[in-house]
Amino acid sequence: MLAEKTVLVTGGTGAIGSAICRAAAREGARVAFSYRKDEAGASSLAAELGAGDGRCLARRVAGGDAAAIAAFVAEAEQALGGVHVLVNNLGAAQVMPFALIEEADWDEMMAVNLKSMFLFSKAAVRGMIRRRAGAVVNLGSIAGSRLLEVPVHYATAKAGVVGFTTSLAKELSRYGIRVNAVVPGLIDGGIGGNVSERQLEDYQRFCALGRRGTPAEVAELVVFLASDRASYVNAQCLTVDGGL
Ligand SMILES: NC(=O)c1ccc[n+]([C@@H]2O[C@H](COP(=O)([O-])OP(=O)(O)OC[C@H]3O[C@@H](n4cnc5c(N)ncnc54)[C@H](OP(=O)(O)O)[C@@H]3O)[C@@H](O)[C@H]2O)c1
Repeated sequence: MLAEKTVLVTGGTGAIGSAICRAAAREGARVAFSYRKDEAGASSLAAELGAGDGRCLARRVAGGDAAAIAAFVAEAEQALGGVHVLVNNLGAAQVMPFALIEEADWDEMMAVNLKSMFLFSKAAVRGMIRRRAGAVVNLGSIAGSRLLEVPVHYATAKAGVVGFTTSLAKELSRYGIRVNAVVPGLIDGGIGGNVSERQLEDYQRFCALGRRGTPAEVAELVVFLASDRASYVNAQCLTVDGGL
């Protein structure tokens, strides 16, 4: 249960992010979420999750804007009674062969998928350290560890999520803060929509469950890790891929 807790989800308008916001709210949490450009999606999700009753806060925040991130976290702390759980979910992929990746593409993938995680975490864990309690859940990807046909810069950034998660967990454990990662396989919608028919067929052939996952199936694991039910689960990167 996440009652009396505030969960901040980055990229709350996305396929997986919106499922995480809904699952957290269903568990009783107040929810703050960021988004990049989907104003309509953000305002309808915020209304659904109780923005009118002060139970949800949605703000447009670019993943690389340190000042805007710090301001959003501070506003959520103030308006929703602290940020007890951070879910670093926002991310983006570029489908591109290695030889065509330019320096700017590389920098963008690192910024969106990794630097944003650093900036949101730095802003959100300060309050958790003060309270001597908290949980951080980072979204990785099997692209970061498996032999798959995936863009190299995206895969590299997602591999970085593992090092970020384990080292941050080690450092923050002394303050009662757990840090884990959820590592999805191919999921319906969002970034998963970028794969070709052939890649989808391959995935379904090698996946023991023979299908893509749903955002709700990823969200279940995220809210479990965020909750005190997972009080002894720490520094783990848990895969949710149907068995590959
Ligand atoms: N879907 C999959 O199959 C899959 C598999 C493995 C891992 N993942 C991981 O799961 C996470 C969510 O993926 P998804 O499929 O749900 O993606 P998605 O539907 O494309 O959602 C991405 C979210 O991130 C936000 N965002 C994107 N770029 C941003 C930026 N530069 N600054 C701030 N916000 C930004 C988007 O905001 P707007 O909506 O406003 O644009 C949206 O809320 C990602 O970390 C992804 O790597 C997904």
